[in-house]
Amino acid sequence: WYKPPTPNCAATTNITSESETPMKGLILSGGRGTRLRPITYTSAKQLVPVANKPILFFGIEWMREAGITDIGIIVGDTHAEIKKACGDGSRWGVKITYIHQTEPLGLAHAVGTAQEYLQDSPFVVYLGDNLVKDGISTLVKEFENDRPNAQILLAHVKNPQEFGVAELEGDRIVRLVEKPKEPKSDLALVGVYMFDSTVWEAIASLKPSARGEYEITDAIQYLVTTGYNVRSHIVQGWWKDTGRLEDLLEANRLLLETQERSLNGEMDDASNAQGRVQIGKGTKVVRSQIRGPVVIGENCLIEDAYIGPFTSIQDGAQVVGSEVEHSILLENSKVLHIGGRMEDSLLGKDVEVRRDDRKP
Ligand code: DAU
Repeated sequence: WYKPPTPNCAATTNITSESETPMKGLILSGGRGTRLRPITYTSAKQLVPVANKPILFFGIEWMREAGITDIGIIVGDTHAEIKKACGDGSRWGVKITYIHQTEPLGLAHAVGTAQEYLQDSPFVVYLGDNLVKDGISTLVKEFENDRPNAQILLAHVKNPQEFGVAELEGDRIVRLVEKPKEPKSDLALVGVYMFDSTVWEAIASLKPSARGEYEITDAIQYLVTTGYNVRSHIVQGWWKDTGRLEDLLEANRLLLETQERSLNGEMDDASNAQGRVQIGKGTKVVRSQIRGPVVIGENCLIEDAYIGPFTSIQDGAQVVGSEVEHSILLENSKVLHIGGRMEDSLLGKDVEVRRDDRKP
C-alpha cells in the first residue's frame, strides 16, 4: 500500500525551503466506530454532535483557527455522509480534499494514504473523534517556530491501557506503546500529531501490529529510535476521545458548561428556563421546565416535559410528557409520554421512544 515519497519540486528546485511550505491538515474520519454501535451502524461517529455540533466540525474549526486552510479528510465507508456534512469547506473558509482509505488498516495506514496529497508539507494529523478544549493554535505555532520532526500531545488518564501510552525520562520520550496491557505510565497519546516529511520514512518501515493495524504510535517510536527530534507536550485543558458513550456525554457536558444563554422560539407562561439554556428558532416550549446547561435546536417541541442539565437536543426533536437529562437527542428523535426520566442516553436520528398503553 505504501508508495515512496514523490520528490517535491520545491525541494529539488530550491524555490522555497520546507520551513516556508505552509502546513496542511489531515483529519482522520475513516474507521468503523464499533464502540459506539448501534448508532454507528447508520452514521459516522465523527458526525455525532456534542452541544449540537458534529465532533468533526470542531477539528475543522480548530485547524482554521490555527491558520491551516488546506485540509485533507480521510474517509472510509461513511464517505458520502461526511462529504455531505462538510462540503468543500468554503463554509469555514478552508479547502477540503477528501482522500479515500479503502480499508481501516490503522492510523499510520490512513496517513500513508494521504501521502500524495501531503507531499513534503509539514502537517497536523487530527483524529476526527477527538476534542481538545483549547484547540491547537498554540501547538501549531510552536511546531512552526521550533520545527522538531514530530510533535505529540500527551494527557494524564485513568485508563491508559485504552490508548497509546508514552514513557518519558524527564522531558525525553523513550517509548511509545499502543494499548499496552500493563501500561508503564498514565500518559496517553492525544489524537493530535504534527509531522514533517521524515514521517514517510517511518511509515515505510512499519509492519502490522499484533491487532493487525499500521500504528501511528509505532511510526513515532521509529522516529524516536532513529534519533529524530520528537517533542511532547502535556495538555493542560481537557481532552476527550469520544469513541465511547460515556466520553461523548462527558464532552457534551464540558462544552455545554461554557455556552451562553440565548432564547429564541416560543415559551409559554407556564414554562421556565433556568441558567445556560439555548433554544433555537421555531422551537415551542409548553408547560415545561428546562434546567441548564441545555441546548435545544430549531423547530423542536418540548411539552409537559422536564429537560435536565447537560442535555443537547437537535433540530426537529420532540420531548412530550417525559423527562430527559444528561443525554443527546439527534435530529427528529422523539421521547413521548415515557412516564419517567431518560438519562445518560444517546438517541439516534428519527428514533422514537414512547410508552405503549397496552399490556407491558
Ligand atoms: O484518541 C487517542 C487514541 O487514538 C490514541 O491514544 C491511540 O494511540 C491511537 O491509536 C488512537 O486510538 P483509537 O483506538 O481510539 O483509534 P480509532 O480506531 O478510534 O481511530 C481514531 C480516528 O481515526 C477515528 O476518527 C477513525 C479514524 N481512522 C481509524 C483507523 C483505524 C481512520 O481514518 N482510519 C483507520 O484505519
